Amino acid sequence: MLQIGDEVVYFSAVFLLVMLGTRSATGASLLTAFLYVFMVMFRFPPVPAEQAGRVLRPRAPSGGVPVVAHRGGSHDAPENTLAAIREASRNGATGVQLDLSFTADGVPVLMHDETLDRTTNSSGPVNKLQFAQLRRVDAAVRHRLKNKFSGEKVPTLREAVEECIRHQLTIFFDVKGQPDKYSDARSTDASD
Ligand SMILES: *[C@@H]1O[C@H](CO)[C@@H](O)[C@H](O)[C@H]1NC(C)=O
Repeated sequence: MLQIGDEVVYFSAVFLLVMLGTRSATGASLLTAFLYVFMVMFRFPPVPAEQAGRVLRPRAPSGGVPVVAHRGGSHDAPENTLAAIREASRNGATGVQLDLSFTADGVPVLMHDETLDRTTNSSGPVNKLQFAQLRRVDAAVRHRLKNKFSGEKVPTLREAVEECIRHQLTIFFDVKGQPDKYSDARSTDASD
């Protein structure tokens, strides 16, 4: 990174060279000024290596293998919920595997099965339900710790990612709803 003193020398040199080349003080001034603005605009504060490493590399306990919690850690909390992500972090996981599905109105949400039957107090295919409707189902009701996690919702992709960032967890997604299946469902709906 150039220091102020270096910059003065640097830009004076550029100015002299351009003036010698073009024999125009105005041109040289403009070009040097342009170069200066360009450099200021594209200058980023340096990121400490330690900080960059924390985001780019999953943290592993004492140099061990990364621990990835399946479905966000479904044993200790209802699977594919924000509670599961939090529990996984609390239990020392370095990453979570989550399942991505889409609602009828195209909102990416966490859900393993094609239907709501196994994990929630509702039923039927996820991709036939509007997000607003899906939001009302209870995602904890079928879990052995349902009392501890009562009222847990089906999270959106965005909420899940934000929770993982908060806990510095690496995310591994399984995409369940095929995009072409999804558009088929949409066109069938439209022709009904
Ligand atoms: C599921 O649980 C939620 C939250 O308790 C409730 O609002 C909703 O009515 C329930 N749905 C069904 C179909 O029982």
